[in-house]
Amino acid sequence: MQILVTRKVDEEYLQPFYQRGWQVEMWHEADHPMPRTQLLESIRHADGLFTNLADPLDQEIIAAGKKLKVISTMAVGFDNIHIPTAIQMGIPVGYTPGVLTEATADLTFALLMATARRIVEGAEVVREKRWPGWGPFYLTGQPVYGRTIGIIGMGRIGEAVARRARGFQMPILYHNRKRRVELEHELGAMYVGLEELLSRSDYVVLLAPATKETYHLMGRDQFKLMKKSAIFINVSRGQNVDEMALYEALAQHEIWAAGLDVYQEEPLPADHPFRQLPNLLMLPHIGSAEIDTREAMVKITVENICRGLVGEPLLYTANPQVYER
Ligand code: DGY
Repeated sequence: MQILVTRKVDEEYLQPFYQRGWQVEMWHEADHPMPRTQLLESIRHADGLFTNLADPLDQEIIAAGKKLKVISTMAVGFDNIHIPTAIQMGIPVGYTPGVLTEATADLTFALLMATARRIVEGAEVVREKRWPGWGPFYLTGQPVYGRTIGIIGMGRIGEAVARRARGFQMPILYHNRKRRVELEHELGAMYVGLEELLSRSDYVVLLAPATKETYHLMGRDQFKLMKKSAIFINVSRGQNVDEMALYEALAQHEIWAAGLDVYQEEPLPADHPFRQLPNLLMLPHIGSAEIDTREAMVKITVENICRGLVGEPLLYTANPQVYER
């Protein structure tokens, strides 16, 4: 068997492949993706694919994998993978839910706090020797404790963020495909329509997966519904937000600030207008970037490949329809 690994990872994680006598072709860079032309060529020889959220696994690329028996992505989101093609070719797609829930919720809350209290601006002022000294309203931000949080997408990560918000005595509103009545009882979360969530929340936190339905879920009309003092946080996928609409809402102070971990195009293009906004805090897609979490994600990704190549059900399958055929 031949496994294609599209990012450099430590060889020790790949031992389960070597122990089975399988061959590995690994891309030599950890922080840059395999170029498309190379991916198209290498996938032709692969039985198993160890991929990630930055590989564009569209129809053409998956279809080139004539020998492919399993695709395994080191991510909870699989919007970069053309699932219908994988289903059509009978290829199970593994992913890594669960293990990154708490890490991503921590990062979401850290981004919320940092945006509200202008943590990065403050740190830069001190480091760059621009701190004039204490002032009555110097670097004042927005209160977090007791303010209303609105969570769009109450899945695993949304729930974990809600639990953190509870500790800050924040009333919780949520909008989700399905109502989570058990969370309403346990956390006092209130299920509301999107418009109501936007107009009532001090913090709007977007955690919905990227699907056709959530494409540009946050656009001009939605930002206009938010309070002028509100903060928007996105740790889901860039496609869920109309970035020009967000740019305008921030530039025209229709909302107070935003914190982003994800973008329509990653890495953010050099000339992206977001860079001009002082009320936007940007992180480089590090939601799950915590050592233990990433290690657990790599292990699941490898295990999914091992199972897929011997015809066993994967630990987590993004397209269970393949098993129904
Ligand atoms: C994922 O796994 O989809 C996350 O975006 C990683 O941070």
